[in-house]
This record gives sequence, structure tokens and C-alpha cells, in this order.
Amino acid sequence: MALSTKFKDFQIKVPEVSAAANQSECFAYTQQTNQEIEQLVAQYGAPLMVLDCEAIRRQYHALKNALPNVTLHFALKPLPVAAVVRTLLAEGASFDLATSGEIDLVASEGVPSERTIHTHPIKRDSDIRDALAYGCTVFVVDNINELEKFIAYKDQAEILVRLSFRNTEAFADLSKKFGCSPETAIEIISYAQQLGIRIKGLSFHVGSQSPNPTKYVEAINACAKIILQVNELGLPALSTLDIGGGFPVPYSAEVLAIDVFCAPINVALAQLPETMQILAEPGRFIVASCVTSVASIMGQAVREGKTWYYLDDGIYGSFSGLVFDEALYPIDSAKQDFTRFESVLAGPTCDSIDIVSESIMLPKLNNGDLIISRMMGAYTLATATDFNFFKRAEVVVLNEQVHSQELTG
Ligand SMILES: Cc1ncc(COP(=O)(O)O)c(C=O)c1O
Repeated sequence: MALSTKFKDFQIKVPEVSAAANQSECFAYTQQTNQEIEQLVAQYGAPLMVLDCEAIRRQYHALKNALPNVTLHFALKPLPVAAVVRTLLAEGASFDLATSGEIDLVASEGVPSERTIHTHPIKRDSDIRDALAYGCTVFVVDNINELEKFIAYKDQAEILVRLSFRNTEAFADLSKKFGCSPETAIEIISYAQQLGIRIKGLSFHVGSQSPNPTKYVEAINACAKIILQVNELGLPALSTLDIGGGFPVPYSAEVLAIDVFCAPINVALAQLPETMQILAEPGRFIVASCVTSVASIMGQAVREGKTWYYLDDGIYGSFSGLVFDEALYPIDSAKQDFTRFESVLAGPTCDSIDIVSESIMLPKLNNGDLIISRMMGAYTLATATDFNFFKRAEVVVLNEQVHSQELTG
């Protein structure tokens, strides 16, 4: 059915979080027990990031089932680790790249370039050349200056025009920094036609850890109108819509189960022409739950009536997401005594902002005791630093081979 007759503005009822199954249960079952984690620390030392590939497979397939007509390009940025790439490659995933470093990683793991897209809206000429040399030919632009960079590559490259849809509810409102208005998108598409540059379609990112699907629905509706307008202007038809990342995971608050979350998105996508190819660029949803961090207590002091525990990992290390990402990870001690006291968890560096929690209920702990933090896969070690020369946590990969429980390194 033609878009003009099929598409119309529509309201989709978004379920309340409390009315839907939340995702917490599905995160519980592949997590290692405290005892297993203590064994790993005995073997490898602390701090550790325990990366369970089985959780990656589970999340990838959960999202795939929830968005059955969408090609999932895993966005490398939240966890650019070779074992993650290998695991997803084996499951049939595609990949979303943003830098030449990410290209090097997927290339070294043998990812076929036709399974990749490059979605950084602002690129140097060398970034474009690196991607093309690898064989990645789909790029994103959101302004005329960026479009003109492709004049030299018009025979090789295809372009997605990125739209901006502000979302203050998300952890990161990515449309503040990137994306254009629908009017500018039409200007870019028209100018590309004059330049002989191929426009493949549209893209957007409604913001990372988006708490409800309403923004996706609004964005898809707006894109549907642009697709229609492009047809009416007699410009070459758009073939692709990339709905970005942003799919949420339960840190400290419940979120909708992913199939419930995606149901209105699927309804909105069904309004588009049947031939439209739909892509997504999930990052956090695929990897947040696959990493459990383990830090050990280096020392302690009582200050103003509270015990401060100093860890061998902190916000300049694996907990960098507390600063960059607003994530509130589930953190607890391995020791599970009933009596608990309000305590402070601090990182190891000499900086006073290096505090993991100003107020956390913990049992009385000894130096060397372990602090275990779940849901630490996304935007954690990816943004860690070497400040003060404290070594970053070692990554221990579990379950990389399907059906194998052996440690792989
Ligand atoms: C262009 C792009 N795609 C995908 C992602 C991944 O988003 P998320 O981790 O929210 O799924 C990001 C995150 O910054 C991004 O900038």
C-alpha cells in the first residue's frame, strides 16, 4: 500500500512500567553467584570486570524477537571488546561503527564490511577514507557541510540523514549534539540530488536509556512524513530508516520488558512502506547486563561517623559511568551480613570526586573484602581512564563458546 494512503498520525498507548513485566528477572539468571566471583578473584585478583557472553547472546535475541523486522547493528561504543564482537558476529548481528578504531576492531575479528554502517555525523576526510577502505559504505550526515565531504566519494558512499528529536528523559539526550530538523533534512536530500550523492534514508537516536517508547513513535511518524515529502518532491525514494539505539535496561529502577517496550515501535514501523529496510543501533541494551564488576577494599577510615571504604576501582576506572552516564548500578558487598551501616564507597585515586557512593548500607567489612556491582557492561570500562596510574580492571571473559562453561581468558 502506498505510504500516502497508509500513513496517518496515530496515537499509541504506551503501557505504564508498573503494569508490565519488568526486566529484572531476566537479568538474574546468568549472573555469577558471589561464590563464583570470589573464585575468579582468587584466580585473577581484583579489580575485575567479569564479562559473560551468554548474557550478550540472551540480550541480542531478546531485542531481535522484540523487533522482528529490524536489522540490529550493535553499536560498539559502550563495550568495544573483541569477545563481544566475536559473540555477536557468531549470532548473526550487524555492527554500528563511529571511529577508525572501531573499524580496526571489527576488521580484526573478521566482520564482513557489508554488515556495518558508520554513524558518526561529523567525520574527518581520513575517517571516511578508512571506512571506505574497509568496505563500509553507509554513512550519516546531519548538515550540508558534512554532505559536501562526500562529493569526492559519491560513487562509493550512501547516506542516511540524521534527524534530531530532543529527549530530556533519556540518560543522554543525543539529539542535543547531533541531528537536524525535518526542513533541513529535505534541504540536504534535495542538495544531495544536485550533487549526485545517493541518499539511502533517514536515521535518529532518541537518546540513550530512553525510559519509554513514545519518542521512537514520534520520531518514526516524523520520518514517515519526510519519506512522503521526498516522494512528492520527485526526489529518489528513501529505502532505509535507522531507529538508533536507546533501548533501556533496569539499573536501579524498573523499565518495561523489551517486548512491551517495542510493541508500539513495531506498530509505528508498520505504517511505513513495506519495502522500507529498518535498522537499529542498540548498544547499552545488548551489553549492560553482561558485565559484573568486582573491586576489593584497599583500606578504610571513619569520617564524621561513617565508615569510608576505599576500593581499588573507582570513577576514574570502571565506575566512570557514574559521571559520564548517570547510571546507578546495583552495588553490594560479597559479604551478606544482616546488620548494615550507612557507609561511603570511595575510589582509589587522590581526587575527592572519586566517590562511588556517598551513602550505601553495608555490613562491617574488612580490607580485602569484595564489592560486587552488576549491570556494568555499558559505558563503564569504555570510558575508564588510567588516572593516577591505577590499573584498569582486568576483563575476564566467560562462556564465549556456546555450551562451554570454561574460562577463556
Ligand atoms: C550514533 C549512536 N548509535 C548508537 C548508540 C548506542 O546507543 P545506546 O547505547 O543507547 O543503545 C549511540 C550512543 O551514544 C550513538 O551515539
